[in-house]
Amino acid sequence: MDTLAAIKTRRSIRKYTQEPIGKDALRTLVEAAMFAPSAANQQAWHYIIIDERKLMDAIPTFHPYCPFITSAQAAVVVCGDLERERFNGLFWVQDCSAATQNLLLAAHAQGIGATWLAVYPIQERINGLRELLAIPDHLVPLNVVSLGMPAGDVRSADRYDEGKVSWNRF
Ligand SMILES: Cc1cc2nc3c(=O)[nH]c(=O)nc-3n(C[C@H](O)[C@H](O)[C@H](O)COP(=O)(O)O)c2cc1C
Repeated sequence: MDTLAAIKTRRSIRKYTQEPIGKDALRTLVEAAMFAPSAANQQAWHYIIIDERKLMDAIPTFHPYCPFITSAQAAVVVCGDLERERFNGLFWVQDCSAATQNLLLAAHAQGIGATWLAVYPIQERINGLRELLAIPDHLVPLNVVSLGMPAGDVRSADRYDEGKVSWNRF
């Protein structure tokens, strides 16, 4: 799949088969995330890969919008690393968001379904993950990406909207 096709056909996938996702595939996703642009190339991120059922099943106890993670085969928690961020916390959200999009596209390119689940800045979800995964204070979880082989097809949608584009001046 070429890059533009991958971008245009990616969708959030929330229904998964029971097929496991191997460690190599998970490593590839995190590797793709690390190729994202970041402010001053500080790469202010850390990735926690989850493939233990018990851990994934606990996430809906503090995150109300991801009941389907109990059928996911793995997840990646994308964290900002405040110790690597030399801009007083100004840019880690952008760094980690770019990394997350890379991860989502890499998953899609490999036929793996994924959904971005919001964590930061909702304190209850941040605290829930800190406790569950022993995340230290200098790491801030931005999101969880749920992962699994897609169960069924999800259609791509044409989202190009001329009304959201200006040339030269608004
Ligand atoms: C910042 C952010 C937070 C999101 N949080 C959730 C979430 O908590 N639960 C969920 O099911 N989807 C979540 N999503 C996925 C969006 O619902 C999804 O991207 C959007 O509906 C567009 O659909 P698509 O990803 O299929 O293009 C989130 C996406 C973003 C970018």
